[in-house]
Amino acid sequence: MPRPHLIFVFLFIFLFLQEAFPPTEALPLSTSSRWIVDGSGRRVKLACVNWVAHLEAMVAEGLGKQPLDAISKKISSMGFNCVRFTWPLFLLTNESLSSLTVRRSFQALGLNDSIADIQAKNPALVDLPLLQAYKVVVENLEENKIMVILDNHISRPGWCCSRTDGNGFFGDEFFEPEAWVDGLTQMARAFKGAPNVVGMSLRNELRGPRQNVNDWYNYMQRGAEAVHAGNPNVLIILSGLSFDNDLSFVSSKQPHLTFSSKLVFELHWYAFSNGNDWQNGNPNQVCGSIAAGVMTRGGFLVNRGFPLFISEFGVDLRGSNVNDNRYLGCFLGFVAELDVDWALWTLQGSYYFRQGVKGMEEFYGVLSYDWSEQRNSAFIKRISTLQSPFQGPGLSDASPYKVIFHPATGLCVVRRSLLDALRLGPCGETEAWDYTEQKTLVLKATTLCLKAAGEGKKVELGIICGDSATKWELISDSKMHLSPKLAGGNGSSLCLDVASDGNIIVTNTCRCINEDMGCDSENQWFKIISSSRPLVKNKQSVIEWLINGFAWFD
Ligand SMILES: *[C@@H]1O[C@H](CO)[C@@H](O)[C@H](O)[C@H]1NC(C)=O
Ligand SMILES: *[C@@H]1O[C@H](CO)[C@@H](O)[C@H](O)[C@H]1NC(C)=O
Ligand SMILES: *[C@@H]1O[C@H](CO)[C@@H](O)[C@H](O)[C@H]1NC(C)=O
Repeated sequence: MPRPHLIFVFLFIFLFLQEAFPPTEALPLSTSSRWIVDGSGRRVKLACVNWVAHLEAMVAEGLGKQPLDAISKKISSMGFNCVRFTWPLFLLTNESLSSLTVRRSFQALGLNDSIADIQAKNPALVDLPLLQAYKVVVENLEENKIMVILDNHISRPGWCCSRTDGNGFFGDEFFEPEAWVDGLTQMARAFKGAPNVVGMSLRNELRGPRQNVNDWYNYMQRGAEAVHAGNPNVLIILSGLSFDNDLSFVSSKQPHLTFSSKLVFELHWYAFSNGNDWQNGNPNQVCGSIAAGVMTRGGFLVNRGFPLFISEFGVDLRGSNVNDNRYLGCFLGFVAELDVDWALWTLQGSYYFRQGVKGMEEFYGVLSYDWSEQRNSAFIKRISTLQSPFQGPGLSDASPYKVIFHPATGLCVVRRSLLDALRLGPCGETEAWDYTEQKTLVLKATTLCLKAAGEGKKVELGIICGDSATKWELISDSKMHLSPKLAGGNGSSLCLDVASDGNIIVTNTCRCINEDMGCDSENQWFKIISSSRPLVKNKQSVIEWLINGFAWFD
């Protein structure tokens, strides 16, 4: 049990840190080159979760499971600072739907049970008009300091998306461009006064036989101008073609808009975007080729001075989908390195009614079926370091350094104290590294470097840097294996790895570099990423210093 005065020390430091890093964002947001920034020019990273309100009922999911405020607090407690909140166009433009209350909408679908459930958990919402109920959700998110992106997900309410559902592209059965511009205008105006509505996604996953680049520019520019005229404070977020998998055409021609510093592009990337490739191929080769494809279809935009928002990604959180699991490590490495904004698919643990099924469970949802707890808390821990920015304006005065990130755990290579072994730990406590042209990984402000000691052995911090044990190449197609020139005892290549019985960093024989389809090398995947996060080391030493001080006074 800690001595009482130590508790005061920790309390003092906790309060001090809270004071030093206030969680305030000066809204509205705008863009500065590839970054989304607040009013003071400081980067704001969108770490969103999708929340669905575009299905037949047109009501935010889950309100029959838990009180609204409890859901908002869950979102925030999982570290998300933002919700991509979906809506169907007809909620605004189809009189017979927009005139409904929550109760009447469920009645029309024969979902009396849902009415009773909402009556029990959120009685104030039951007899509100649909748009009003949507607004109440946005307001509650604001009370909980959560930003909102309004996402026009579809026209006719229902599950999205197929190539032939009549909602895919301008001119499709339910996608009349004038109605769309009208609906966007109304939605922009309706939320003009809502400070936490920071962006509007103009249309989700354009697709289908009618899709073409000329119409994309024609209509997306019109939609963007309409939203900007309706609410100049929101970021304008444009989706690509082919289910939002493709923005490559923007490389040769940029949208022409009358306003600046508001444009963001969104891209989707799932495992199933590539069928079963992850499961069927060698993970390094699949990761290398798919990540390169994502760069040419959207990732390149950050090098062209545009923010990129990966507004949908996600996995089956039961953990049993091999395709999803292999994709996730590659995806997280990519996102850490590019440090893009993102929105996880998805929040809801279940739906009122989806694709003809009442109460369908959502295994990609971070909340459990009854919305009371996390479906998979290890997953939330794993993505948590990506919820804060690594780079961007205004983060700190620290000169940029490198961190060694381990996507399989979401942790980084750290040392607890001077003499401690290198191990995985929270990226907030990372060592600051330099990755030199000679391929050595040097601890910043020291002459110590990462040094391999052989097969199955702990890596060390060497004093003599430059020999074969201290030169680390990024090998394999994934470029995520860190391999020293030093070979294993039997001549095989060594790779940085994590000891199977803990979190100690070791080197082992490189696994499934190529050819082998049936093996996972994820535990040997690392990314050397740039960071200018404030280093927490100083705080730790302050704590140590204070504790020592108190101990000394005892
Ligand atoms: C409005 O929605 C109703 C109900 O889904 C539908 O039957 C009707 O065709 C829609 N009207 C228009 C103009 O899209
Ligand atoms: C649903 O409730 C309405 C109004 O109370 C009632 O008229 C209707 O019969 C109910 N439907 C079912 C399927 O129970
Ligand atoms: C070298 O040894 C390691 C572990 O002892 C083993 O996994 C690997 O297959 C060996 N490599 C060769 C080429 O024999």
